[in-house]
Amino acid sequence: MSGFSPDWLRLRAPLDAAARSKPLLQRFARSLPRPARLIDLGAGTGATLRAVAPAIGGEQTWTLIDNDPALLGAVEREMSSCGWGALRTSDGMEFSSTQCHVQAKLYEANLARSIEDLTLTQADAIVASALLDLVSEAWSWRLAQHCAAFRRPLYLALSFDGRLSWTPDDPRDDLVRCALLEHQRRDKGFGSALGPDAARVMGEHLDRLGFDVAGAESDWHIRPQDGEMQHAFLAGIHAAACEQAPQFVDDIEAWAALRRRQIEKGVLNVTVGHQDLLAYPPPFSRA
Ligand SMILES: C[S@@+](CC[C@H](N)C(=O)[O-])C[C@H]1O[C@@H](n2cnc3c(N)ncnc32)[C@H](O)[C@@H]1O
Repeated sequence: MSGFSPDWLRLRAPLDAAARSKPLLQRFARSLPRPARLIDLGAGTGATLRAVAPAIGGEQTWTLIDNDPALLGAVEREMSSCGWGALRTSDGMEFSSTQCHVQAKLYEANLARSIEDLTLTQADAIVASALLDLVSEAWSWRLAQHCAAFRRPLYLALSFDGRLSWTPDDPRDDLVRCALLEHQRRDKGFGSALGPDAARVMGEHLDRLGFDVAGAESDWHIRPQDGEMQHAFLAGIHAAACEQAPQFVDDIEAWAALRRRQIEKGVLNVTVGHQDLLAYPPPFSRA
């Protein structure tokens, strides 16, 4: 159990899809050989496959890796409920849409331990969404080195970058944001997490290893009509801020109560900064 519920991943998926940098995704999709073979790290319930495979198109093979069996167990259901054909085969799953046909294998593994075990000779690229901010600086360096050793590109989307703004604003927003950023740096299973520094640090690692690195903002815009998402997002931030800064719990409680009223009135907008990264080792050129 990872702490990421299928319900939360389902709520965030449309925001992620809207936020993902389209130019970066298209460039990544165009550069892959056909049929493309991808490894998705921290795949959850398969949201990255659903967002990326149609842009690639045609026949593909995906390896979905996660340490949470409940999330991997929900992949088939999520694919079907998003309109994909889903079929169990003797050695995995097949997913089809009008744009693509995917053969997928699902693996339960703790990536914190086993990153060097990934057999990158059998993949054309590594992808991950909303994973990088959970990992440590040391682990991100190991991943970068492993991909450099096998000369494999990486497409790492939707890393939180620390920007968080609320409209209308409130004097306590910064207190809550600072508490959240500190909470983001707590150990999420990989050692002290990169949190808001994730994309910058990984970009620097890859740059140092000679990768051609491109980045783009992929911000969430949570609008008044996204009430369920606003409540879920607020609940997560509220809990993290109270845990991180108990000395300010009265301020945080008052702030959260105000934000809940604003959600109910349909007057709250929230922007959450994210970054996408696309990196090619030297022999690859960007399409
Ligand atoms: C924020 S969720 C993103 C899931 C999915 N990529 C998406 O975009 O919906 C982070 C994912 O990383 C997985 N994860 C966290 N720590 C992990 C670890 N040590 N090994 C493998 N997966 C891990 C979680 O189980 C979760 O599915």
